[in-house]
Amino acid sequence: MLAEKYAERIEKIFAKYPDKRSAIMPLLYIAQEEYGYLSEEALKEVAALCDVDPTQAHSIAGFYTMFRESPKGTYWLQVCTDLPCALRGADQFYKDLCDYLDVEDGGTTADGIFTVEQVMCLAACDKAPMFQCNFHYYENYDMEQMKVLIEQLRAEAASESDTDTATETASESGED
Ligand code: FES
Repeated sequence: MLAEKYAERIEKIFAKYPDKRSAIMPLLYIAQEEYGYLSEEALKEVAALCDVDPTQAHSIAGFYTMFRESPKGTYWLQVCTDLPCALRGADQFYKDLCDYLDVEDGGTTADGIFTVEQVMCLAACDKAPMFQCNFHYYENYDMEQMKVLIEQLRAEAASESDTDTATETASESGED
């Protein structure tokens, strides 16, 4: 439960605002960090902490693209395809990305590493095609650069997974 695990952090956040409801976004971030995404249960938990109705937590989570309302891949690629970016080729860029990863719009790759999604303006309209990956911005991208990045991220995910497996094996065998 967030209230117990993050008690100190939550209290510090509440102290910054005149009322608890104003702290809803920072608490949604904590919930997302803890659970990976904002499930119905997570939204209810945050709403209870902030003394608001769960529908309010739901509407905030649904409005802002930085909140995840469903599980995502390790890397969440949010491509802006809003009009100014579309005029600079963002639609084709997004389509090529989906084809390269072999996913549908909004889908996650079979290995769970990448989720792709179209989003509205990310305030970098003159730098399209652009996207954010786990909240880091990448601007003026083309598919050749994208393929390099994807393979880098795939390699990172594989190496982290190998490290996790080695740690589990060591811990199962009693090693430190
Ligand atoms: S329209 Fe794409 S960043 Fe603004």
